[in-house]
Amino acid sequence: MSLRIGDVAPNFTVETTTGEIDFHDWIGDSWCFFFSHPADFTPVCTTEMGRTAQLADEFAKRNTKPLGLSTDGVKEHLAWIDDVNDTQNTTLIFPIVADADTKIAQLFDMIHPNESDTAAVRSVFIIDPDKKVRLTMTYPMSVGRNFDEILRVIDALQAGDKNGIATPADWKVGDKVIIPPSVSNEDAVKKFPQGFDEIRPYLRYTSIS
Ligand code: BEZ
Repeated sequence: MSLRIGDVAPNFTVETTTGEIDFHDWIGDSWCFFFSHPADFTPVCTTEMGRTAQLADEFAKRNTKPLGLSTDGVKEHLAWIDDVNDTQNTTLIFPIVADADTKIAQLFDMIHPNESDTAAVRSVFIIDPDKKVRLTMTYPMSVGRNFDEILRVIDALQAGDKNGIATPADWKVGDKVIIPPSVSNEDAVKKFPQGFDEIRPYLRYTSIS
């Protein structure tokens, strides 16, 4: 069965390009952006790996560790990283899981047989420091992911946790946020002393810093 939002991500020990990791220990007090891709030395994957490497500072600002996976071995991954660095003008330092036996890909339901029996599709799991799955996204092999959206959703999850708010469509940092319907107006006055706009009883906007 596939993993659902709120589930604890299964733990595993595996070889990666930066050595063996115990997944939960490696995440520690950070967030994790765990993402799979079909194969090393393929074009779309090369651009995605490069983009993730280029965004290292943005992930670090969000206390988020990227972890890649494909169903290839460490040796292939390491040779491919040289190519990624060369073609995408970057230095890739985050680990990539070696999953030649597809064990981890199967654990996370990353193999969708109507796409391929052996290679992973483009799965995304955002996992929080409690090791809970907070977001899942699945892209087909032919479509590269939008990394602005990945950073945006981490921002939205972290803003929600910190402020007890929800975020509207296309929200980005600095935009107004939504007071959840579970918070009464009486409580909202106390919780959001900066005030709020009530457009409808169920649609209330406020600002967070
Ligand atoms: C790619 O990364 O370009 C790719 C990999 C597998 C299938 C289709 C595209």
